[in-house]
Amino acid sequence: MADPYYKQHWVDIDPDRHNAYDQILAYHPAMEPLLRPLDLRAGLRVLDVGSGPGHTSLELARRVAPNGKVTGVDINAEFIERSSARARDAKLAVEFVHSAFPPLRFPDASFDRVWCKNVLEYVDSAADTVAEMARVTAPGGVVVAVDSDWDMLALDIGPAARDLTDRILAASKAIAIKEPRIGRQLYRLFRAAGLTDVKVEIHAGADTVGRSMPMLKASFARYARDSGKIADAEVARWFGEIDSAVASGSFLFVLPQFVVRGVRNQAS
Ligand SMILES: C[S@@+](CC[C@H](N)C(=O)[O-])C[C@H]1O[C@@H](n2cnc3c(N)ncnc32)[C@H](O)[C@@H]1O
Repeated sequence: MADPYYKQHWVDIDPDRHNAYDQILAYHPAMEPLLRPLDLRAGLRVLDVGSGPGHTSLELARRVAPNGKVTGVDINAEFIERSSARARDAKLAVEFVHSAFPPLRFPDASFDRVWCKNVLEYVDSAADTVAEMARVTAPGGVVVAVDSDWDMLALDIGPAARDLTDRILAASKAIAIKEPRIGRQLYRLFRAAGLTDVKVEIHAGADTVGRSMPMLKASFARYARDSGKIADAEVARWFGEIDSAVASGSFLFVLPQFVVRGVRNQAS
């Protein structure tokens, strides 16, 4: 039997969606506050859990060069191929491993930093994955998870599209995300995994120019359509409403990101 949709949609990614993720998940300097809690420096061993197209993995590798190393792990074979090729071209010390998790297929205490961004909402067990992230971190090492809380999403593209927007987001969340409220749970999961000095920050920039359009169109509209609850014509109408809201300067999208950092206890 195939895996549930929330997992399978990461195994089967068509070329259009891959191209969209290259855009959506590109490294951008606005991500700096998310990376800061990692406290990166040369020589560190870093694990990128759910590395996707690998743009952030490469950025991490630049920050631990010359003698550090980044390992990325992901369920999608093409992400692994594409990101490995990028790392070779950039001559950076990054290795990508094709594997689903949890569990993480690495020995205990094998990394100084463990990073996981926008992944824990999709895994079979976020608690087990965070516990694994703690296990593979060396004593004194740092774990950072960044994730959304979909119940805190705000999207306004005008009153005419309000009900349709709510239906599309609800339909897509119901099938594509295992744990939509992961953001608010991270603090508890980090504590339960034995991580210490756990700190929570929330970052919430407002997109008023339509930067999030590729995510709404390539991910959320597709999930909603796959749910069987939203017709193609409704998706087309929604795209039209998004485009006109962006064109008329009345688009607003906010999706807060929880940034949670914990330290692996020296004694554990
Ligand atoms: C939204 S993307 C985030 C990618 C990357 N962390 C970033 O921010 O650029 C989610 C990633 O998690 C991976 N993923 C989801 N569930 C997974 C699982 N159970 N095991 C391994 N990887 C998984 C997907 O293949 C995808 O690359």
